[in-house]
Amino acid sequence: MTEVLQDIASARKRFRKITRAGTSLGLVPTMGALHEGHLSLVRRAADENDVVAVSVFVNPAQFDDPEDLKRYPRNFEEDRGILESAGTDLVFYPDTGDMYADGYRYKVTEIEDSQFQEGAHRRGFFDGVLTVVLKLLNIVGADRAYFGEKDWQQFNLIRGMAEAFFLNTEIIPCPIIREYDGLAMSSRNARLSSAERELAPAFHRILAGTGSPEDKAARLEDAGFAVDYVEEREGRILGAIHLGKVRLIDNVRI
Ligand code: PAF
Repeated sequence: MTEVLQDIASARKRFRKITRAGTSLGLVPTMGALHEGHLSLVRRAADENDVVAVSVFVNPAQFDDPEDLKRYPRNFEEDRGILESAGTDLVFYPDTGDMYADGYRYKVTEIEDSQFQEGAHRRGFFDGVLTVVLKLLNIVGADRAYFGEKDWQQFNLIRGMAEAFFLNTEIIPCPIIREYDGLAMSSRNARLSSAERELAPAFHRILAGTGSPEDKAARLEDAGFAVDYVEEREGRILGAIHLGKVRLIDNVRI
């Protein structure tokens, strides 16, 4: 039976009891709206740790658009059922007011790698992500925490933060999980209309195809996407597009 922890003080005590007993603890941080991509992280965490905790917290600090925050899919009971059947031991589901009892006066800012790509298009996004992840890692005290490579820039910044602040949690990258047609799994896919869903796999196809980042951006625009960026960095092509009201990101190793 999956145990749900909401109160931060009691959750800390529970997590500490686990790690003090010498039991290894893996954490999968999520914002809910779970799909197969999240479950692949849960399975990996279960393979590598004695106990698996999943956090479900829609973090307001990483949304620069209040409408996007409002539209973000939330269904805790469904998520809890999915996690229960995946054999998750603990679900941490804190309250927003408790997580930001300081009124978000304190935040983590990275000043170089967070400035381009996602950071250039979503104001304050990485401050919000790094801050909430630091809070979660401090509360849970896990041995390992698992992040999907779809959010490649996010993963790198979190790993950099863990090194910079000498955190005890090892940050583990996990491969992108794709739909049968190549579309990277994302909680946002559920908001695509059927016409948008049909077009969406072309995003990955074009990113993974031949040509310069500029060629790929032009091809994406021609195909009907509004392109935020297509850029090459550290052996990867990374892109972000809008399809109607939905913004998707993806990346492929060159
Ligand atoms: O990738 C996500 O789902 C979120 O950015 C994360 C890491 C759970 C922080 O809110």
